Amino acid sequence: MNQLVGQHVLSVDQFDRETLNHIFHVARQMEPYALRQKRTTVLDGAILGNLFFEPSTRTRVSFGTAFNLLGGHVRETTGKQNSALAKGESLFDTARVLSGYSDIIAMRHPDAGSVSEFAKGSRVPVINGGDGANEHPTQALLDLFTIERELAFHGKGIDGLHIAMIGDLRYGRTVHSLSKLLCLFKNITFTLIAPNELSMPQKVLDDIENAGHKWHIVEQIEGSHDADICYQTRIQEERFPSQQEADKFRGKFRLNQAIYTRHFQSKTVIMHPLPRDSRMEANELDNDLNVNPNLAIFRQTDNGVLVRMALFALTLGVENLVQQYDKDVVWFNNKEQG
Ligand code: CP
Repeated sequence: MNQLVGQHVLSVDQFDRETLNHIFHVARQMEPYALRQKRTTVLDGAILGNLFFEPSTRTRVSFGTAFNLLGGHVRETTGKQNSALAKGESLFDTARVLSGYSDIIAMRHPDAGSVSEFAKGSRVPVINGGDGANEHPTQALLDLFTIERELAFHGKGIDGLHIAMIGDLRYGRTVHSLSKLLCLFKNITFTLIAPNELSMPQKVLDDIENAGHKWHIVEQIEGSHDADICYQTRIQEERFPSQQEADKFRGKFRLNQAIYTRHFQSKTVIMHPLPRDSRMEANELDNDLNVNPNLAIFRQTDNGVLVRMALFALTLGVENLVQQYDKDVVWFNNKEQG
């Protein structure tokens, strides 16, 4: 049964393993459409309000792409300064108005809790595209979907996983949401590599512990980790009290091929929610890893389209109708699976 129809997607807390399996099952069915082998018009006439009040490249564009791939139309607002929020309009009023123009809304905002507040005024389902340092549920879903696929390649499942999370675990919302989702599985080990000032919030550590998993905190990438996944993050400089504070941590957690070889297994999968900060003073994920077959970052971004298509299909209740609206693709296409 589809429990997501008509629902908001605000936090990973609303998912159980059965729902995750259903989302991933639908996501896999979306692959021929994302690869342009087929197209569908199942959402012809539907409108996505894509509201991004904070910078984004892949989340915003992949939400729009996912909706277009299902045959729907996209209306976008980018930047707080270009909306009536800059004139003092409340999130409730903005939601009340824009939900009259849309069938579903995806939204990102710099304040924790803002997307839930917005959803209270919305007459259509709202999907959280990231609210401050709080949560990024669709990123966590695509990360988990990627982990499942990458581990399956090595003949493993998610139960028993060892994940090393590196960098800004305090302000990085993707690691908060992903950790909470992993709590639904069995026997997970978290190695949390961050300076004390950027350590994982106690609330997330409590969730991990209450779910019966193990965590270790280390301040540096040191020793040898038998991690299955190495999840690197960006220093979230926009969330620090000042640029000077953020600069203290820039470049502290570089990962390149030599460091990877020294500290990880030869099959450890390298992930990052992106964007990676490639400026010389940060260079947190070096370009020399681009040829490493375990670098999964662009498979993550491709998977994001599948997962977001699945969420749209499920929340709008068309997951079983997609193929009925199939059409041929008539233009040049040589896309391949990532
Ligand atoms: N991963 C992620 O949220 O990227 P964007 O900020 O580009 O959307």
